[in-house]
Parts: sequence; structure tokens; C-alpha cells
Amino acid sequence: MNEPLDAIFGRRAVEVFDPVEISEGVREHILNAARRAPSSFNSQPYKFYWVQSAARKAAVAKLCMGQKPAETASALVVAVADLGSLSATAQGQLEWMRRSNFSEEKIRDYEQKAKIGRILFMPGPFGMFAAFKRAVFRLLNLWKVMGMPPLSRQDLFKWATKSTSLACQNLMIAAEALGMNTCPMEGFDGRRLSQFLGLSGRHHEIVMVIAIGKKSRAYNDPPQWRRPLDATVTVL
Ligand SMILES: Cc1cc2nc3c(=O)[nH]c(=O)nc-3n(C[C@H](O)[C@H](O)[C@H](O)COP(=O)(O)O)c2cc1C
Repeated sequence: MNEPLDAIFGRRAVEVFDPVEISEGVREHILNAARRAPSSFNSQPYKFYWVQSAARKAAVAKLCMGQKPAETASALVVAVADLGSLSATAQGQLEWMRRSNFSEEKIRDYEQKAKIGRILFMPGPFGMFAAFKRAVFRLLNLWKVMGMPPLSRQDLFKWATKSTSLACQNLMIAAEALGMNTCPMEGFDGRRLSQFLGLSGRHHEIVMVIAIGKKSRAYNDPPQWRRPLDATVTVL
């Protein structure tokens, strides 16, 4: 096999870690791998909190209901779907395009797309704009082949969660490739953890917490079961 496949096939959700320190270099590598993941419109609608100080880690582990992987990990990464960063990201990409001497045509094209994106992705007060957009899109869809953009705030979080999850998977595979191990967790108190991190319910939703560390030498992975390939795949 080759290295990426080794990391993919070798990764397990590890329940107990040994206490090891993660160097700054490895931390950066892992986080850089996360943000290289593809994202819808390259919008990167997420942010990560890398929790490593003993006191904060203990507090976050408690909010992960004291789960063993959380309590024993060297670091906990809280992955957050972030709707609040969208316009700053578009602005950042535009500035980067200008600095990188993209043609005026490409820049105008991007500006146009960003503007349309802003309009499409705006649920408006009390979701009123979402209801209007839904009606317009349903009508247009009667005779035109088209995709449905995220309409409500809930749709937007679902949309952002897809890209966030891909970044999480990149993060876990990179950790594995760098000799670390992980456990993704959705067992946490989202309300208290959001409060702890100072997140806003309007813009942020915690997607998962990833425990990172070195698998305990005393821990044995249970056998790994997956549904048969033909139960998950349809070849057409
Ligand atoms: C979204 C998500 C949430 C999960 N939540 C937890 C969790 O809260 N606690 C835990 O111990 N494992 C959790 N897991 C790990 C799964 O139990 C594990 O991936 C699954 O049993 C398959 O095992 P494997 O990853 O070792 O192949 C979660 C995995 C995913 C993808």
C-alpha cells in the first residue's frame, strides 16, 4: 500500500491515549492538512479550537461527558461550522487574487459570484427571505434543472457541516500519518461547550470534538466491522 492509504486503513477511533506532548510542528502540520480539505465554493466555513492547556483540556473533557478519549487525549480539537466568517473569507480571497495579479476578468467574475453567494445564502430576518427563495426556486425548478441552495439557517449549518467534516477527516488522516491517533466525538454538551468557547448560536455550531494523542500501549483496538461493499455501493 502507499502512505495515504496506510493512514486511511490504519486509522481507528482510539479510546485511551498515553500522555505525550504534541510538538508545535506536528500541531501545525495537522491543522494545515485540515484546511487543505476541499470546501463548498472554497468558503472554508469552519474554525478549529485546539485545546491543549491542562486546565482548559480538563474543562472541555468534562463537557465531553468525561469520555475516556477526551480525558486521556493530549489535545482536543473542537471543530465548529462557522457562518460568521463567510464575507471575510470572500474578501480575503479577493485580496489574494489582486495581490497575485489575477486578470481583471477573473477578479470581476469572482466578485460577481461572491455577490450572488451573499444574496443566496442570506436567510433574512426570521427566515423570511428563505421562504421567498424557496418559493422562487421551487417554481423555477418546474422547468429548469437546478440545484437548491441552502435556504434556512438550518440548511446553512448543514451546508457548512459538510465542508467542516471533510476538514475533520483530513485532520484525522494527517494525525495518523504523523504517528498520532484520534477519536472523533459527538458526545458533548453543545450548549455548555459553545458557552465555554464564547460561540454565537447565530453563526456557530459545533460539529465534533476530536481527541488527539498517542494510543495507549495498554489499549487494544477492537475488531473493525464495516458493512459489505455491495451493501454501501451501487455501481450503475
Ligand atoms: C460523527 C462521529 C461521532 C462519534 N462520536 C463518538 C463519541 O462521542 N465517542 C466515542 O468514543 N466515539 C465516537 N465516534 C467514533 C465511532 O464510534 C467509531 O468511528 C466507529 O465505532 C468505528 O470505529 P473505527 O473508527 O475505529 O473504525 C464517533 C465517530 C463519528 C464519525
